[in-house]
Amino acid sequence: MLDKIRVENLSCFYADPKEKGGKKRVLESLNINVVENEILTIIGPANSGKTTFLRTLNRMNDFDPNYSRKGAIYLGNDNIFNMNMEKLRKRVGMLFAMPIPLPMTIYENIIYAPKRLGVVNKKSEQNEVVEQALRDASLWNEVKDRLNSSAMKLSGGQQQRLCIARILAINPEVILFDEPCSGLDPISTAKVEESMMELRAKYTIVLVTNNVKQASRVGSRTAFFLMGKLVEVDKTGTIFVSPKNKQTEDYITGRFG
Ligand SMILES: Nc1ncnc2c1ncn2[C@@H]1O[C@H](COP(=O)(O)OP(=O)(O)OP(=O)(O)O)[C@@H](O)[C@H]1O
Ligand SMILES: [Mg+2]
Repeated sequence: MLDKIRVENLSCFYADPKEKGGKKRVLESLNINVVENEILTIIGPANSGKTTFLRTLNRMNDFDPNYSRKGAIYLGNDNIFNMNMEKLRKRVGMLFAMPIPLPMTIYENIIYAPKRLGVVNKKSEQNEVVEQALRDASLWNEVKDRLNSSAMKLSGGQQQRLCIARILAINPEVILFDEPCSGLDPISTAKVEESMMELRAKYTIVLVTNNVKQASRVGSRTAFFLMGKLVEVDKTGTIFVSPKNKQTEDYITGRFG
């Protein structure tokens, strides 16, 4: 089992609004790996630093003047903090809680980034990329007859899978999901989960979820974050059946959080 991502001694800080020049630590000396082709799910109560962790993995926070960090993150052999940002984003895609399609057709939504990055030129290549991305996001059958209609007309669950397809079209190695189903009904959630399970064959996935049951359904391994610390990470079955830490047990049994 190869490590796709290795996080070494990562600490993250935001400027403390209460103290001029002060810093508030929101992630503390985090050491964790993400194995190739696994779904690593991250659970934990609000303000545990889950989103900060994901945003650090593709350096989404680098433009925030209030944010700073220490430590190293390796993607394969490359330290992401020394990488060209555009290259990193191409290798590590991120999906947010609210699906936000571009106000364009379904087809244009998917081909927008590959065109901008210059990875597809010919129309026939574009058609192929669009079809493959939609198939891999489990959306093709629902939209194949209306690729030229507006993406805004899709349902919430379809829009979320469209956003997954947009990421797939740039062929990343890692996909980060931040509570991707929090705004979806159970049926749409099941479809997004199904699509994630299929993606595991080709991609490495980190999924932050506030839904413990979702973590138990789709996670290969599960990590429990609490107040900026990694409390425990293990095979999902182990975390849910016999967690080593009392705090983990309390959280998954709904006793707090
Ligand atoms: N851009 C920001 N500027 C300042 N503080 C921030 C910023 N983003 C997050 N924080 C603070 O960092 C801490 C961790 O937040 P984060 O969003 O990473 O937690 P989370 O585990 O994702 O929570 P939730 O489950 O509510 O999404 C919180 O105390 C939050 O207030
Ligand atoms: Mg969050």
